Amino acid sequence: MKPCRPSRPEPLIFEVSRPGRAGYSLPRTEAPAAPEDIEPELLGEHEPDLPEVSEVEVLRHFTRLSHLNYSIDDGMLPLGSCTMKYNPRVNEKIARLPGLSMVHPFQVESSCQGALELMARLEERLVEITGMDAFTLQPAAGAHGELTGMLMIRQCLLDRGDERRVVLIPDSAHGTNPASCAFSGLTPESIASGADGRVEMDAFRRRVARGDVAALMLTNPNTLGIFESNIGEICDLIHEHGGFVYGDGANLNAMLGLTRPGDQGIDVIHLNLHKTFTTPHGGGGPGSGPVGVRGELSDYLPVPRVRRAGSRWTLAYDAPRSIGRVSAYYGNFGMLLRALAYIQEMGAEGLRQVGQDAILNANYLRSALAELFDLPYQTPSMHEVVLSDRSLEAETGVTTLDVAKRLMDHGFHPPTVYFPLVVSGALMIEPTETESREELDAFIEALRAIHREAHEDPETVKAAPWHTPVRRLDEVRANRRPRVRWNPESAPSASGGGEGR
Ligand SMILES: Cc1ncc(COP(=O)(O)O)c(C=O)c1O
Repeated sequence: MKPCRPSRPEPLIFEVSRPGRAGYSLPRTEAPAAPEDIEPELLGEHEPDLPEVSEVEVLRHFTRLSHLNYSIDDGMLPLGSCTMKYNPRVNEKIARLPGLSMVHPFQVESSCQGALELMARLEERLVEITGMDAFTLQPAAGAHGELTGMLMIRQCLLDRGDERRVVLIPDSAHGTNPASCAFSGLTPESIASGADGRVEMDAFRRRVARGDVAALMLTNPNTLGIFESNIGEICDLIHEHGGFVYGDGANLNAMLGLTRPGDQGIDVIHLNLHKTFTTPHGGGGPGSGPVGVRGELSDYLPVPRVRRAGSRWTLAYDAPRSIGRVSAYYGNFGMLLRALAYIQEMGAEGLRQVGQDAILNANYLRSALAELFDLPYQTPSMHEVVLSDRSLEAETGVTTLDVAKRLMDHGFHPPTVYFPLVVSGALMIEPTETESREELDAFIEALRAIHREAHEDPETVKAAPWHTPVRRLDEVRANRRPRVRWNPESAPSASGGGEGR
């Protein structure tokens, strides 16, 4: 068993501080300590209370802190619904080229033609990959893309004189879907999944026939990792009754090069560049959630749009129906570059391979893990598989949370747990295409060992993790009242409890 992290207690920087110790030496200066031309009230009365440490202590402090974090560069990060895949380093090289990283949003257009051209090229590639007519690159996250898309739908309906507000959302959907819908002035209404994990068609047909549905918000493949194979009929039904289909394209990974949302009948879609196109993810961003549209919705895209005017690229604002800006400037440019670099590197064949490998890896795990956990839906998986702890808990008392915590002792990041809500004790596992068969096998072995242990020594699993810097946290308190500053009065306890470190 490889411990996730070394268990040696690690001193914090304030604890190693010694008076007079410093990590620098400066030549003596004749300059006055407080220059005369600075107003006295602007001068601090005391020196800042900073740790006094040597250079090597500072270096070790930050290196140790970085070790407390688990990332995709450490190993597989099988968080279902998050698509945590490797970020190729060539993307970073390209995004850091000085001519691109130093470009300023206030530069005159004539001095940033290359940047505008790259944005236009990314829009073109996304159009080609998805089958949509046009894209905006402004939204800064998937959820932001959802809001943008729903605002466009709402505005288009209002321009038609149509006051409909109801948006149908499957009960397996990501929580951002109903939230974005409500934020845009529309009314979310949940629709049930059937026994196969897909939209339940009879109930859906009856509901749409009432004629008051503004839109359907559908994730495909959905958050159970299942392809909505009735997508053609679903789109036709919504269109026949005058509504729009919003596609949550967060899981596009599994369709790359295999099928296109635009060809399926989707009217608006957001993509998560950080999920599908290998831009960095987590740590709070920056994300990117471009939105694609078809047909009349193109008129409602946010401004400015990158356009060709003769031999020049320009930022165009002449779109009277546009919903306006949804972001300062033009989106997270560095992320756009990384995504374009990735698409260019992969090419059409490479992207198709991504889709196929994402599906293959998820099904490889599914077939091995179905021996250990319950499989709530027999429908084949796409990019991720959702399992349940139902039998394991009944037999041993060990829950999904315990399994997730014990995985950390085996050196793996836990999968997403207890989501989607329609599966009790859900373990949602998404390996992504970037993991090798050996890494998948090691993950399966870790889960087999935990399963065995749950039957032989359940208390060890229930008290896990044992080998991490902090043990089981009070997760609610750690979220609601995080202590992010060191405080000498609250010495960190070995069990963490959401405090201190
Ligand atoms: C299905 C689905 N929809 C929407 C989102 C929201 O995207 P973001 O986290 O970029 O806001 C996610 C995020 O993982 C998702 O999985």
